[in-house]
Amino acid sequence: MPYDLPLMKRGAEIEVLIDRLDRKGRGTGSVDGRTMAVRGGLPGQVVRVRVTRRRRLEGYVLEVVTRSPHEVDARCPHSGSCGGCAFQQLAYPVQLTALREQVGNAFAAAGLEVVVPEVIGCDPPFGYRNKMDFTFGATRWVEVGEPEGVERDFALGMHVSGRFDRVLDIQSCALHFDEADGLLTSAREVARAHGLPPWDVLRHTGLLRHLVLRKGFGTGEIMVDLVTSEDAGPSVDRWAEAMLERHPEVTTLVQNVNTRPASVAFGERERVIHGPGVITERIGDLAFNISANSFFQTNSRQAAVLFSLVSELAAPTGDEVVWDLYCGTGALSLAAARTAREVWGFELVDAAVADARGNAALNDLSNVHFIAGDVLASLGEGVSLDAPPPDLAIVDPPRAGLHPKVLSGLLRLAPPRIVYVSCNIHASAPQIATLVAEGGYDVECVRPVDMFPHTPHVECVVALRR
Ligand SMILES: C[S@@+](CC[C@H](N)C(=O)[O-])C[C@H]1O[C@@H](n2cnc3c(N)ncnc32)[C@H](O)[C@@H]1O
Repeated sequence: MPYDLPLMKRGAEIEVLIDRLDRKGRGTGSVDGRTMAVRGGLPGQVVRVRVTRRRRLEGYVLEVVTRSPHEVDARCPHSGSCGGCAFQQLAYPVQLTALREQVGNAFAAAGLEVVVPEVIGCDPPFGYRNKMDFTFGATRWVEVGEPEGVERDFALGMHVSGRFDRVLDIQSCALHFDEADGLLTSAREVARAHGLPPWDVLRHTGLLRHLVLRKGFGTGEIMVDLVTSEDAGPSVDRWAEAMLERHPEVTTLVQNVNTRPASVAFGERERVIHGPGVITERIGDLAFNISANSFFQTNSRQAAVLFSLVSELAAPTGDEVVWDLYCGTGALSLAAARTAREVWGFELVDAAVADARGNAALNDLSNVHFIAGDVLASLGEGVSLDAPPPDLAIVDPPRAGLHPKVLSGLLRLAPPRIVYVSCNIHASAPQIATLVAEGGYDVECVRPVDMFPHTPHVECVVALRR
């Protein structure tokens, strides 16, 4: 549509036809030959947009002028305000196509020509999350349509997109496991009834910081983890007692204390109030004990797909030594250990390493070993390890991708094969390009898996051979 771009100001309203999604899950459309990113816009829609940035052309949807043929009704009552999902109103097959395009774009931007197959979808794409991290807040975000006079000084839910200081009081979520809605409601009601104050992120006062809910889909076990700003033992015990009375399905309840300002659901110390302090998850024929502060794949259904992809790619002859860098609770290590000769896992978080060792024993796997500490140190120049050199290195780093020195370490180590498991292909593709250019690797195959339906994130398993 023709617009006079030099005159278009921040705050102006324009109409845009959305044709694709960008890597952040925003709709994009062309305005006078330039690409505009529109928060809330879906492919196929014509939307009236408020311009928020002129130079980079960004804005958000004020009104949908013409609906998209790909639009479906959102299941979640909070989908407009919540930062948890990006495009629940977009038909799932169209989401998968857009994710595939993102993966292709990331490789192309890194200068790699690869064939990207269809993304393996999650069936069903709802109720898939086995872990939710909710935030308590002292400044509640009031949604359009809420009654006058709702309490504004207590909320338990998710951050509103783009607002670290405002928490949306979530009543129900279409992505998490079935029991989580009821637990969330009780956690809020019991806290209110006992007069426990929520954390005020601006003043750094209050007790309740996060509520983390976890479920083992394969076992039905449920963990409630209350993260507080101080010990406050008697108050927390009363809250826990009331929660357990209402929810006998909870198999373990723990408290984590985070006294630091950073808003993370991680504690410096943990107290087990009820049950064993871990839940067990079963994926295929493997069992995993997971404690509150350990990483585990958040989508159990798709974890099964991911683990079998990795075990398929890991050890074709059965005589391989496999290193699993960034191994968390050892999930991929154990998946590989069933077919490999020996597996060595490397992980920073001590609690995860303890879980990983326990998980190897739980599954009667004696050919897997774990090294605790920063992978950066383990791959440093001149470092000697007990582990024999790998035939295959699995790397599954956090969203930022491999630390540059880990990438250099990997090039020095030069394993014949690498399986790069990436939850952020935009960070990983340039690193894969470096492995190709400097390490002499070929990309053998790429397998994208949708672990996080309704969000722009996509998991990719990339097999490389030198
Ligand atoms: C994406 S998770 C992968 C977990 C595991 N592969 C799985 O599938 O369950 C990344 C893991 O890397 C760990 N981590 C982050 N930085 C690290 C570092 N510098 N050294 C070792 N591990 C690290 C995190 O604690 C987390 O467990």
